[in-house]
Amino acid sequence: MNLPTQETRLPPGPDEALTLGVDPETLATLQKLQTAYGNIVSVRKPNGRLAWFVNDANEVRRLLVRHHSRYKKGPGFERVKMLLGNGLIVSDGATWRRSRRMIQPAFTRQNVHRLIGLMIDCANSRAATWEEVARAGETLDITQEMSDFALELILRCIFGADYESHILSAGENPFAFLSKDSERNLRIVLQVRESRNLIMSVINARRQRATQDDFDFLAMYMSATDKTGAGFSDEELLDELVTLIVAGYETSAGTLNWAWFLIARHLEAESALLDEARRLMGDPGKIDQDSLAEAVYGQQLLEETLRLYPPVWLFSRRAIKEDALADYDVAEGTDIYLSPYILHRTEEYWPDPDRFDPARFGPDSPHKKGDRPYFPFSLGPRRCLGEYFSFLEMKVHLGLLIQRFHMTLESDQEPELDLGINLRTKNSIILRPHLREQD
Ligand code: HEM
Repeated sequence: MNLPTQETRLPPGPDEALTLGVDPETLATLQKLQTAYGNIVSVRKPNGRLAWFVNDANEVRRLLVRHHSRYKKGPGFERVKMLLGNGLIVSDGATWRRSRRMIQPAFTRQNVHRLIGLMIDCANSRAATWEEVARAGETLDITQEMSDFALELILRCIFGADYESHILSAGENPFAFLSKDSERNLRIVLQVRESRNLIMSVINARRQRATQDDFDFLAMYMSATDKTGAGFSDEELLDELVTLIVAGYETSAGTLNWAWFLIARHLEAESALLDEARRLMGDPGKIDQDSLAEAVYGQQLLEETLRLYPPVWLFSRRAIKEDALADYDVAEGTDIYLSPYILHRTEEYWPDPDRFDPARFGPDSPHKKGDRPYFPFSLGPRRCLGEYFSFLEMKVHLGLLIQRFHMTLESDQEPELDLGINLRTKNSIILRPHLREQD
């Protein structure tokens, strides 16, 4: 590690050493640092390593986009690695580049459009459960519902017909532990290992099948090849599939959880969403990429939800080369902390930042689309691969369910944040569904 020399230009920061992790204390620590020192702050960790908090929108963009090759993933990712192996989210350098090139084609818009039917099915099956709950005058644990919805959808998108025949054949969904356990503990790691065996058995069954006409993520991952024509090894394939399951459900589930909370709280947003849904999604048989592209209010509502509650609220990088950000020199080995949660609530970028207002993302927005102080999906070459998929999934879900149910909150209290690897609500959000016909 290069230690900064006398001439190194370091951002301001406190003299005392500070611990930074991925935990609630870190949010408070970073907020205090920002208040005291501004949008680029340098601190020393107890082990002597330099750590910067970068909350300047231009520098965040520079770091993630143009300077991205000077950084690798930073602290906190070791924990994720225990769960995901060396899949796309945690891999770096040549391994990441090869996997990204192999996987990216699976996420073209054309491919994602072929999954809209599954999105509709999964939303409709929720509607059936909610209807029973509404008729019985009961409430819904919307947090659990959103986890179940997003997990079922991603598993169906990955395994296609094998979801019913192989995954569910044992009765209970063997991946249900992912949506039920909120603790990222050793037990989960062991359960993930067990589920790798299950995935491997599906892969083997497919390899033995005479015809290969499946259209799903598993088929695309199994046939992906690199520049030399080689495919993924079994280990690599399993790492990438487990990564896809975890990356593909928890973030969308969290966003929908917050979206329902905000819709229940803001009647004007609910009515704008409902009008749009009736106009564009009144007939589920006619929902397609064009009607979803026209659902601009739904898009704005989701973007505003992601501004206030970005599931990936904190991420980190480690400099593998020297760099310069703003007027300062980044020494090799420096850890960088970036927080969409804090940047999205910084007054100079978003006036009255705590106020929910989907119009911020409308045509009168002061920010051009490609230039917003906003990065819930990260930016640059490592930007989320599932962004388009997740917007379609969330728009279909909200568009169909809002037409059937008016949702009311059981409590007026602001939900407490659970700041783990993903931003969740500490306790479940409970909503009461009312059938619209009864309005
Ligand atoms: C609201 C929903 C989502 C949000 C907010 C989100 C956010 C993110 C963020 C911030 C990253 C980058 C993390 C980092 O660089 O440290 C990321 C990466 C990734 N996401 Fe998402 N994500 C969402 C949904 C999805 C879905 C639905 C999928 C798959 C179907 C997915 C697949 C991935 C993958 C594969 C990566 C790794 C990309 C790479 O490193 O090359 N995400 N996501």
